[in-house]
Parts: sequence; structure tokens; C-alpha cells
Amino acid sequence: MKALILVGGLGTRLRPLTINTPKAMMPVLNRPFMAHVIDHLRKHGVDEIILTRGHLAKQMESYFGDGSKLGITIRYIDESRPLGTAGGIKNCEQYLNDTFFALNGDVFSTINLTEMLKAHRGKGAVATIALTPVENPSAFGLVETESDGRIKRFIEKPKPDEMTTDMINAGCYILEPEVLGYIQHDTVTSIERETFQSLLKNHRPFYAYNDRESYWIDMGNRDKYCQLNMDMLTGRCPCPALSSGVQTGEGTVVDSSAKLEGRVVVGNNCRIGAGVTIAGPAIFGDNCTISDNSFIGNAVFWNGVKVGNNSSIDNSILADNCLVSECSRISTSALADGVFIPSSMILIDSQIWPGTILSN
Ligand code: GDD
Ligand code: MG
Repeated sequence: MKALILVGGLGTRLRPLTINTPKAMMPVLNRPFMAHVIDHLRKHGVDEIILTRGHLAKQMESYFGDGSKLGITIRYIDESRPLGTAGGIKNCEQYLNDTFFALNGDVFSTINLTEMLKAHRGKGAVATIALTPVENPSAFGLVETESDGRIKRFIEKPKPDEMTTDMINAGCYILEPEVLGYIQHDTVTSIERETFQSLLKNHRPFYAYNDRESYWIDMGNRDKYCQLNMDMLTGRCPCPALSSGVQTGEGTVVDSSAKLEGRVVVGNNCRIGAGVTIAGPAIFGDNCTISDNSFIGNAVFWNGVKVGNNSSIDNSILADNCLVSECSRISTSALADGVFIPSSMILIDSQIWPGTILSN
């Protein structure tokens, strides 16, 4: 079974973190987001993955290669320009000659794809969309269905007076190659706004797979990215790689007077100094240093982050190689890679672009 993953977006809502790191490669529990998605696909029998590339695509290829280390085949297909969600799928037509999964590349879910495929085949559908409930469907594709699961209406980004259900497009489809016939070649096309509408107009067998139970998140903004990290850390989203409590990697040294509370994951070769308090949930990548008497709470640190003495960081994301000098305070902020914070600086609700060197 093949799965096509749409990873062509620019990750605009995750800036500045996505300036130098594609959304799919942002670390979630110290692994690229896409690695978690691929794990789930493999569990459900997917053995070939097509990644439709765009922004900073080379990073994905250098990490995953041809997939052989994972026992699967990974193919990378370039788009000369962003072709939209349907155009990106059409662009891979030569590899799509049988039933396939198509996924939005920023969604993580534990949807039972095996059951979904059974339902798709049972109905004789040309397209099946997984649906998940959300509190507010306005940022999603709202999907109205008949009692037998057939799709009645698909409204992308519904207006307040169009909110007739809480069930939305989970960004996970099973498609037959027939659907490609409804998309023009080399043309910017949206699957949500155009292709699905064509299937409805032509009365094709187009079904929903309702899933109210599984974990589901679109990690396309900073709050959701943090939430996914914390949900995996705390077990709200099942992550088999994780043991309970505090987990430290190889070569990591934690001073005996440091206090690590709640769920904390520390990567390899980190140093946690004397008198440090870490209030989980908190995640540290490899080669991080937290110097004496600093406080870190509810934070995601990527690799190589260094924090000086007596600093405090909460509710924040610090990307690779950020350097926070002593006696600083950072709260509810996102620092892209290579940011320098001088001593005694206070930063609240800030987003700092890569490589920025702040001064007092
Ligand atoms: N290859 C390619 N080319 N991929 C693209 C392009 C493109 O031109 N444009 C967007 N994508 C990818 C993005 O990288 C992302 O993984 C996915 O398509 C969806 O785009 P988003 O920009 O994240 O859309 P959204 O979150 O506003 O809405 C979509 O997802 C919701 C579920 O999270 C829609 O599919 C909604 O209907 C759905 O409910
Ligand atoms: Mg999205």
C-alpha cells in the first residue's frame, strides 16, 4: 500500500521556527514529526511513501534517505511551484496506479487506517475521508454526511452560519486513481475546494470514515506543535518509545542537587547544573546545557541549547543552538535557531528570527 504525504506547505503559521526547518522535520519528542507519522503508516501496512516536496525538502531526504533503514521505500517528488493540495497529488500520478492513502503532512493521528481501508472497500468508494470532531470547525474542512456515511457537503473553512456539525476533514484520505481524472495536470488545484466538489457534483461514491476516538492534531501552529509534544510526553497521545517520569539520554549528566519534576525527557550529552529546577512537561534535545540555579518549565528545547546561570524559561520553544545568557527570563516565546539572548534580558510573548543577536 502506498501513502502520499503533502509536505509542500511553507509552515507560515509556525514561523520563525520553520524558516530553516521544514514543518515535517520539527522535532516532536526529539524525533522529526514525520518519523512519527511514518511509524503509524508502517503499522497499517504502508510500504511505500511518496513525499511531495517543497520548502527545504533536502533536509527530509538527508534524514530519511530512500527509507530502506525503515524497511520501506520513500520517493521524493518535487513541485516546480506549489500546486495546491490536489495539484501536488496529480503531480505524482505516474506512481499512483492503485488505491492509495493521501495525507496532509502536518497532521498526526492514531486513526485505524486498516479499518478505514476496510470501510472504503466495503462501500466501493472512489474516495473516503477520515473525519474527526473539533470544538470549532472554522479553521478546517467541515463535512456533512448522510446516515450511511456518504458525503453530502464539504465546506472548507466554514463561516459561522455554516457550522452544521463538529466533524471535520482529518486530512487523511483513501483515494482510487479515478479521482486523479478530476484534477488538471500542472495546475494549481485544491482538493478541498475543487476536487471534492467535482466528486459530489458527479455523484461519485464518496464516503466519510467517522472516528471520534483516536488522537488527532494538526500541528500547524505553535500552540498545537507544543501540545503534540506535551501530549506524547504525558501519554495523552500514545507514544510507545517513552517510559514514565524522567528519561535521560546517553552521556547526559544531571547534578545531584537538580530537581526534575513531572514528565521530562532529556536527550544525549546534556548537562543539567546544580540547583536547576525543571518542571515538566519539558523536552530537551541533544547537547543542551542548563547551568546552575536556572528554572525551565513547560518548554521544548531542540538540540544544542545553552542556558546560563539563574535564568528562567517557561512555556517556550527554543530551536537549535539558542544561547540564553545568565539572569534572563523568557516566557511564552519562540526562538528560532541560533538566537542569542544577552544577560538579564526579559522576553515575553516574543518570536525571534533565526540567528538574531539581541543586545541590552
Ligand atoms: N505538495 C504540496 N503542494 N503540499 C501542500 C501545498 C502545495 O501547494 N499546499 C499545502 N500543502 C500541504 C501542507 O504542507 C499541509 O501538510 C497540507 O497540504 C494541508 O495544508 P494546510 O495549509 O496545513 O491546510 P489547513 O490546515 O488550513 O487545512 C487542511 O487541513 C485540515 C486538517 O488539518 C484542509 O485539508 C482542511 O480541510 C482540513 O480540515
Ligand atoms: Mg494544516
